[in-house]
Amino acid sequence: MLKGRSLIEPEDFSEDELEVIFKLAAEIEEGASFLRESCRGKLLASLFFEPSTRTRLSFEAAMLRLGGGTIGFAEPGSSSAAKGESMADTVRVVSSYADVIVMRSPKEGAALLASRYSQSPVINAGDGGHHHPTQTLTDLGTIKKIRGGFEGLTAGFCGDLKFGRTVHSLTKALTRYTGVRFVFISPGELSVPNYLRDMLNKKNIEYMETDRLEKVIGELDMLYMTRVQRERFLNEEEYLRLKDSYILTLEKLKLAKKEMMVLHPLPRLNEIDIEVDEDPRAVYFKQAAYGMFVRMALLASILGVSGN
Ligand code: NCD
Repeated sequence: MLKGRSLIEPEDFSEDELEVIFKLAAEIEEGASFLRESCRGKLLASLFFEPSTRTRLSFEAAMLRLGGGTIGFAEPGSSSAAKGESMADTVRVVSSYADVIVMRSPKEGAALLASRYSQSPVINAGDGGHHHPTQTLTDLGTIKKIRGGFEGLTAGFCGDLKFGRTVHSLTKALTRYTGVRFVFISPGELSVPNYLRDMLNKKNIEYMETDRLEKVIGELDMLYMTRVQRERFLNEEEYLRLKDSYILTLEKLKLAKKEMMVLHPLPRLNEIDIEVDEDPRAVYFKQAAYGMFVRMALLASILGVSGN
């Protein structure tokens, strides 16, 4: 039962619960109409203390397409946060107006804290460099749609693996499936956090780390490209030095398997050359489109209108 549940970290939902969401998302994407007015009278509050395009708009579009309404802010400067109100107080009050809260914050742990003060379920739409579980739903669902499942997947992650919350969430989520192998490609300065390495070691999961994309691209079934997260750097020069560490081009894709999929949570800066967009292996725009369907399935489940 997902009704009334918050989603703070990818593991808050079991694999079976995720299956329910993916199945529902597929039905909605195929045009099923039974959920169309299911959220009439319900309100989603989107509280975005950090910039967003896809996550916020896909959540709002999802709620509107389910017949519900939305309130919120996309700019903390236009909320009472600018007057110094604590996030806990904001959430306490907003949760008395809305049936579900979607929240993004630059602070790690903010969504978890919010869920303790909220009367309504809280969905973490990104907390600093920590987690981004609804991007993970989007990523897992995209891989599953294309490949059928996760068994035996060699998953490559490339770019900013230190600050990239989508990398942290997807890595954690994929360790729950059998036979997934990880290849982490980054400069030493942007390698995965130790807690992920410890988790992989503890679970006896095979992984390797390298700074050379060309060396490993041929082994991968999925390549997850990421943007270097400028906003998390303390030193701008360091960002400028590292920002173009990897650029995926058609030339480099020649070394990859014919069926390797290229994912990216977007926004894309330089890390994928636009010429790659036409390659059938580039699925990042399909991934972003699917994000709305999976969020519709998530909202319908959490609000208890999906019949699951
Ligand atoms: C990501 C994020 O916010 O972490 N964007 C998104 O939600 N699709 C990735 C990023 O900003 O690089």
